[in-house]
Amino acid sequence: MTQLPDRSVFPNDFLFGVSTSAYQIEGHAQGGVGSTHWDSFAATPGNVAKAEDGARACDHYHRWQDDLDLIRDGNFDVYRFSTSWARVMPEGRGAVNAEGLDFYDRLVDGMLERGLKPALTLYHWELPSPLADLGGWRNRDVAGWFTDYAEVVMKRLGDRIWSTATINEFWCVAWLSHFIGAHAPGLRDIRAAARAVHHVLLAHGTAARAMRDWGVDNIGAVFNFEYTQPETDSAEDTAAARNWDAIYNRMFLGAAFHGAYPDEVLAGIAPHLPDNWQDDMATIAAPLDWCGVNYYTRKVIAHQPGPWPNTHETKGDLPVTDMGWEIYPDGLRHFLSMVHRDYARGLPIYVTENGMAAPDALVNGRIDDRDRIAYLAQHLDAARAAMAGGVPLKGYFTWSLLDNYEWAYGYDKRFGIVHVDFDSLERRPKASYHALAQALERVRK
Ligand code: FCB
Repeated sequence: MTQLPDRSVFPNDFLFGVSTSAYQIEGHAQGGVGSTHWDSFAATPGNVAKAEDGARACDHYHRWQDDLDLIRDGNFDVYRFSTSWARVMPEGRGAVNAEGLDFYDRLVDGMLERGLKPALTLYHWELPSPLADLGGWRNRDVAGWFTDYAEVVMKRLGDRIWSTATINEFWCVAWLSHFIGAHAPGLRDIRAAARAVHHVLLAHGTAARAMRDWGVDNIGAVFNFEYTQPETDSAEDTAAARNWDAIYNRMFLGAAFHGAYPDEVLAGIAPHLPDNWQDDMATIAAPLDWCGVNYYTRKVIAHQPGPWPNTHETKGDLPVTDMGWEIYPDGLRHFLSMVHRDYARGLPIYVTENGMAAPDALVNGRIDDRDRIAYLAQHLDAARAAMAGGVPLKGYFTWSLLDNYEWAYGYDKRFGIVHVDFDSLERRPKASYHALAQALERVRK
């Protein structure tokens, strides 16, 4: 069986963590939280498997102390969590839900009491419905709304937070949700997508600059990547793969680090961007302290006749996870090197998400998820290869602590290193949790 590399083969200050997000684990029917666009998206037939939503999820809202104990006992150093905008400000603007903010206050103190560094993400997808009614990410005002929300959170928690990310996965927020239509709000419209792209970046840059002014340090953002392979070496497939790569892997990095959209992207979205978008690029390219890389898979792309971007996903020939996602660890090495060389240029880089879904059946009280252990081991090896090549990688977070609400897939896809029974809500550490705990144990010198 593939072994996880031991902590001792990483630099002494290398951090290991687990990631979660608010809507996926907390239970969004609890604690005075406002409605979100995921609630209405899930309530619309055909959007989410079994029309499941995050109303109860893992009930982390009540079980957070046990969940933090699991992270501490797994020998992790840092916990990447998110605050829910709709829990903090149920209307998205104006009134603050004191109970919600108190919850996060206790959660952060709970991390510190257990020796865990709190790594906060401000937006992991639960846009308050009243803001969605106003156009959500399509409305330029979202940059100000988001910065006001960031202010409320940081003024309360900022003194104890170790790192802050503005946005989780810009591509999903903008493209998957407004062009492909697979995530809330489920739009398939190039004008909506172009505006969401630009405004989520503007929100990021505006909030990052404001936070810096308030004295917040260690500010970053989290980008997602898919290794892109043309189906054949024909000129058409090669161009399609280049478009996919530009939209997925380079558009948001290019804007956030260089204040520029790639040419392949402008070829499609330029007519649909808001007027005078160029004037925002300097704000968008706010200085950052670190860059987060989420990586899971590879995509094989073929030419699709019709309008831009002329891309079509095809089936590759590698082994896949329960999501149907191909396992391609070398893609992680590729992106860590690319991000360092072309964008972050010396800034600390973190793998902020990596992991796999598996059926994870309970057999005699145990979950022997050896496929997940192998997946994590292969990706940790790829991360080490990138480091050997000079990438300043400073930490690695597994997605995820718990089986949880996997968005459009509902509760069917299990990414946790801890199994959750969604009837009893019992938590049961899987073999991968135990393997990680063992690999991460600090040997006393
Ligand atoms: C990422 C998301 C995370 C989870 C994993 C599997 O795109 O950030 O919430 O859904 O994928």
